[in-house]
Amino acid sequence: MRRNIVHIGASELKYEIREITELGHEVAAVSGRPITWENIGDPVQKGETVPDWIKAIVARTAMQNAAYAYCPTRGLASTREFLAAHLNARGKVQISPDDIVFFNGLGDAINKIYSLLRHEARVIGPSPSYSTHSSAEAAHAGSSPIVYRLLPERGWMPDLEELRNRVKYNDSIAGLMIINPDNPTGAVYPPDVVRHMVSIARDYDLFIIADEIYTNLVYGPNGYAPLSDLVEDVPAISLKGISKELPWPGARCGWMEVYNQASKPMFRRYVRSILDAKMLEVCSTTLPQMIIPEVYADPRYQTWKSERNAFFARRAQQAIDLLSDCPGVVLNRPNGAFYLSVVFADDVTGNHALRIGDRRIEDVVRRRCPPGIQPDRKFCYELLGARDLCVVPLSSFVCELRGFRSTLLERDDAVFERTYRTLAEAITEFVGSA
Ligand SMILES: Cc1ncc(COP(=O)(O)O)c(C=O)c1O
Repeated sequence: MRRNIVHIGASELKYEIREITELGHEVAAVSGRPITWENIGDPVQKGETVPDWIKAIVARTAMQNAAYAYCPTRGLASTREFLAAHLNARGKVQISPDDIVFFNGLGDAINKIYSLLRHEARVIGPSPSYSTHSSAEAAHAGSSPIVYRLLPERGWMPDLEELRNRVKYNDSIAGLMIINPDNPTGAVYPPDVVRHMVSIARDYDLFIIADEIYTNLVYGPNGYAPLSDLVEDVPAISLKGISKELPWPGARCGWMEVYNQASKPMFRRYVRSILDAKMLEVCSTTLPQMIIPEVYADPRYQTWKSERNAFFARRAQQAIDLLSDCPGVVLNRPNGAFYLSVVFADDVTGNHALRIGDRRIEDVVRRRCPPGIQPDRKFCYELLGARDLCVVPLSSFVCELRGFRSTLLERDDAVFERTYRTLAEAITEFVGSA
């Protein structure tokens, strides 16, 4: 073509969580056996049923004509009023309904937040990191992500010293991104850790992006507080949604809450540009926004939330118990969200392998394993070929560590146990193979 039409950041757009399913389907087509999908954080796909009382609210709402109309670009005023009042009642940072903007899922919000940043302004994020953030940020900058490490040997807490130094010595960093509770590690940062991160943002005049989509999925012993309790005067965007907690990921409904925009005209202008971009799309889907006040105000919501958290606490312990005898890995019990990340020791290399047995499946898998492939990617691909099980390599979460992410979502006890026993056997075989 007479002009290069490919965006400078095109090669940064990677989402292995879904890409790995291609290989899964290829393997299944050859083997004729089903795959156990542990790659994606969709509670409904993993067998969770949305409670009947929530479905009844959705059904009743769907009978209202207004559910079929456009809504204001920011989102339904009544829902934003409800959310703002709920947050303000905590007595910490105060917002108005106009500080809230709805999106078609946080995927939509994340995309806009980074693409509307000035090209040279960077946002530092965690490593490992949920790849929608890191990819969107890197694509916006046309450069690889800038990260601070989460340390598996310290319960996946952030390396705060490294974070401070990275920020101090790189003045292109304008924002600090936090995921709390975290995907992919299941870590929950105690309030003091978040306070420390807020102080770094304040000291270097950064804004914060806090992805808090798992804010109601906390079940560990660490204390937890949402950013709104801790942010004080620092400009920030908190991201929340219903995909994981109702759970209704197919609704494609999430929102941003903006804190302290009055204090910083430039931040305010940037936030305005996000709203203007949303305006070009008219608005987000109306119906899911309509149900939010009724669901959250329903007395059954708190009971439901506690039961779910107790379920994930149990799953987290079961997973750790089933993996505890594996050699050559670092394990941390998740305290929030519904993921578990297992890290291989440094001496696990591309020479380690799983036996696949079936020649035809081996051919399919080996085609995806060129020389020099990261060992954890190789493990995940061979796991698909050898055990019909799909997990996601940690190296696809902007990470130098080698390991994988699985989920705690499986509702069927026998399937859950079989999955984690299979993982334990596969880790033992892989680590011991070279
Ligand atoms: C940390 C995090 N943020 C955002 C999302 C995307 O959420 P949504 O379904 O609202 O697009 C996910 C989905 O897995 C996630 O884990």
